Amino acid sequence: MHHIVAPSILSADFARLGEAILMIDSSEAEWIHVDVMDGRFVPNITIGPPVVAAIRPLTKKQLDVHLMIDQPEKFIDAFHKAGADHLTVHLEASPHLHRTIHAIKDTGMKAGIAINPHTPVTLLEDILADVDIICLMSVNPGWGGQQFIPHTYSKIKKLKLLIQSTGSKALIEVDGGVSPANAAQILSAGADVLVAGNSVFSSPEPAKTISALRRIDINTIPA
Ligand code: DX5
Ligand code: ZN
Repeated sequence: MHHIVAPSILSADFARLGEAILMIDSSEAEWIHVDVMDGRFVPNITIGPPVVAAIRPLTKKQLDVHLMIDQPEKFIDAFHKAGADHLTVHLEASPHLHRTIHAIKDTGMKAGIAINPHTPVTLLEDILADVDIICLMSVNPGWGGQQFIPHTYSKIKKLKLLIQSTGSKALIEVDGGVSPANAAQILSAGADVLVAGNSVFSSPEPAKTISALRRIDINTIPA
């Protein structure tokens, strides 16, 4: 399978959000990553279901909603009704993760689990078979434009082995500090999905940066 690029609208100009969605819609990205923050689980506040509902009619791309919120189970129906295709919750915010994952899947959405940089991938072992996406945070969540944490490479490799050994079909998504400069190394480690906010939206031609991320071919990189 070729890897997926998921531009994060967190770094878009929110006064021109519709234009950003249309740009992604006509780009080579497959998913649009939407960061939801509550000022409790993370020290920042962003957007919620009304904004997801507003962008839904503008694109057929998959809306990949990343909940950085406490008690995410309370908002499953709201994001489903708003038009989310994927709903990802944090392991650290979910004491009843198995129940929450199945509640997400029962709506028809794909279910994801995100883990913070300090959380070991081994904690996912008994839920991997139930889940569609694992989002490895490669920065501490809260803001766009942070530096990629290099320890993430070894987490990707470990998680890939764990996924293979459990027969899970979960995709590995890497979120935070991803750019065309480190994307090849992230993909070589075993990632399936690249989330990129700042590197896309701070570039002079965001659609070209999306293409650059999409066209990285790890088979052509010398060992
Ligand atoms: C961080 C968010 C990320 C963020 C990534 O808390 O979860 O999705 O938008 O942005 P960059 O690519 O700028 O690190
Ligand atoms: Zn995110």
